[in-house]
Amino acid sequence: MSDAMSAEFDTVAEWTAAVARDLGPPYHVPAGCRGSGNPAALDWLIDELELRGGESLLDCGAGVGGPAAYAVDRQPVLPLLVEPEAGACRAARSLFGYPTVQGSADALPVADAAVDAAWCLGVVCTTPDHVAVLRELRRVVRPPGRIGLLVFVAHTPLTEDEIPDGNNFPTPDSLRDALTAAGLAAVSRMRTSDLPEMPDEWQDRVDRVDEELARRYGDDPAWQVSERQSGQMGDLLADGRIFGEVLSLRQT
Ligand SMILES: C[S@@+](CC[C@H](N)C(=O)[O-])C[C@H]1O[C@@H](n2cnc3c(N)ncnc32)[C@H](O)[C@@H]1O
Repeated sequence: MSDAMSAEFDTVAEWTAAVARDLGPPYHVPAGCRGSGNPAALDWLIDELELRGGESLLDCGAGVGGPAAYAVDRQPVLPLLVEPEAGACRAARSLFGYPTVQGSADALPVADAAVDAAWCLGVVCTTPDHVAVLRELRRVVRPPGRIGLLVFVAHTPLTEDEIPDGNNFPTPDSLRDALTAAGLAAVSRMRTSDLPEMPDEWQDRVDRVDEELARRYGDDPAWQVSERQSGQMGDLLADGRIFGEVLSLRQT
């Protein structure tokens, strides 16, 4: 993983959990959603994947663990978190206490057909081999293969200097080809820009966490790198060079 991505997904993840713990439980889930962002995307996926209480849900590239905790609030699923960054694993365990395993999406430390459903949110575009990630998700989920993705997609390939360090955005065509190669198909999909806005209360909590992170760590190079990375993502989204898409998949 690039140094910039490690700053964002390891160091800042751990700081985020520390700030959320200090601010209190209402801040844990909004602080812990670092990519999936808008809860409307999670609501859409929970419905489309038909998640039910008691089912196992793998969160692949779970980050700080907020999306899994959000799912548990909606339906009492049994989450399993996989995340490559040690700091993010510690952050997720400290905030939510779910089983959390350090590992990579392209070699999941999970047996074949071991979980009822999986999701992978804001992760595909941080990995070099999209087919490998999708094949692994297909391998570990029981038929019919209820898998959710949140992916940032580039309309056309971007140049090296336009891309935040370490990112690798699929195009619509390359994502379609990767899904086919992995034996998966989208049964429904939705642009994140078509989802309802983030609720004010959620946004206020995210802002409060960010203010506190900037106050505590604003002078630290890791914070500055992380801000530059997320600023670049924000600019690409605002300019329409990339768009967010949520997909509900099944095995073909
Ligand atoms: C934008 S964050 C999203 C985190 C979380 N899914 C969420 O929505 O809040 C991207 C996450 O992907 C993780 N990641 C990067 N490379 C990965 C890989 N090869 N396998 C699994 N996760 C990876 C990062 O460490 C980071 O936690």
